[in-house]
Amino acid sequence: MALAVRAHSSLCDCVWLTRTSRIGHADKFDHGMDHGCCTGAAGFGSGLGGLATWVWRNPARPWRRGASMGAALLAVGCAAFAIVGLTGLYRLEAPRRGAAAPLPRATLPTDVAHGERLAYLCVRCHSTSGNLPLSGGQRDFLWSPERRLGELYAPNLTPAGTIASWSDGEVGRAIREGADSAGRPLLGHPASDYKVMSDGDVTALIGYLRAQQRVPSATPSRTINLLGVLLIGIGQFPVSVESPVVDPSSTPSLGRTPERGRYLVAISGCRDCHGTDLQGGPQQFPPDLIAIAAAWTDAEFVQTLRTGKNPLGGAVGPQMPW
Ligand code: HEC
Ligand code: HEC
Repeated sequence: MALAVRAHSSLCDCVWLTRTSRIGHADKFDHGMDHGCCTGAAGFGSGLGGLATWVWRNPARPWRRGASMGAALLAVGCAAFAIVGLTGLYRLEAPRRGAAAPLPRATLPTDVAHGERLAYLCVRCHSTSGNLPLSGGQRDFLWSPERRLGELYAPNLTPAGTIASWSDGEVGRAIREGADSAGRPLLGHPASDYKVMSDGDVTALIGYLRAQQRVPSATPSRTINLLGVLLIGIGQFPVSVESPVVDPSSTPSLGRTPERGRYLVAISGCRDCHGTDLQGGPQQFPPDLIAIAAAWTDAEFVQTLRTGKNPLGGAVGPQMPW
């Protein structure tokens, strides 16, 4: 994937970072080009700093002191801007990984069927229908009425998508560690939920991804504009990358054990919406699951998750991926 910066001659024109072609070609990150934009800012800043020093050393012209202070402030601002921009680019683009650890291929029909169940965890983003197959989402995760940060879609995960050419190890690393085939961070993909996924489950899931029918639909390439890069630089908008999965876990055995429940809650991302302690999101919405689990019978809880109808007969809203 090439990253091209449409940089024009002046500092303020380095507005768009465009990731072109997510498919195929040599995944190379052209450091010279992007850094040119921010080192340009740094050079501009240090030029202004030099000018400020020169003016400062000419006391015969005291009126210039105000101008020199202004130039010095501008230089500091430009340097800060360049540092934040470079940090954002580094976080977004710098590959941090060597080769992905290989994973065995799941071929047994029972494994693929198990993988299909797990793939429902992905439908809320990687599908337009809220159902399988995972042919790519239509939601732009960076869209908001207030600000433009770029474009980010959850790609097609059927054999017609980019991952068809990735090894199983690379797909597994994308799912659990949030890095693409070249080791660069993904954005918006909840690797923090999947990092605990066992080798058995991730292998079954990849087996299902490979077994899906080909759906030839393409999502737009990821584009992050300057504001997006700056927000990533100041840590407002974290990338999805997780530390390497070094200790392959096994799936807690089926049954009513707290370990199994903890595992399912983690990989299902219940905390993303219901709060880190499961006691409810902001302003108690989404609701407190600890209180609900205490108040409802097991059968009522299961029925709500399976049917979207709660024990009071109310319909669970569409934001809850039941
Ligand atoms: C909350 C939304 C969300 C969920 C849930 C989600 N993903 Fe993603 N995923 C994304 C986004 C957005 C990207 C694109 C990231 C980028 O381009 O930087 C992505 C990228 C990927 C990629 C890299 C694909 C490529 O072509 O670059 C893989 C593989 C992947 N996801 C697998 C999965 C699997 C498997 C699941 C379910 C277990 C899943 N994702 C669940 C949002 C999501
Ligand atoms: C993408 C966000 C999201 C995720 C992930 C999520 N939920 Fe929810 N959940 C919601 C929202 C929003 C509601 C409230 C829906 C409504 O009342 O209309 C809700 C409601 C519920 C309810 C109560 C329904 C009712 O009518 O009172 C239960 C039970 C529940 N969720 C369980 C879970 C469990 C268990 C998980 C993980 C397996 C989970 N949720 C994951 C967003 C989410």
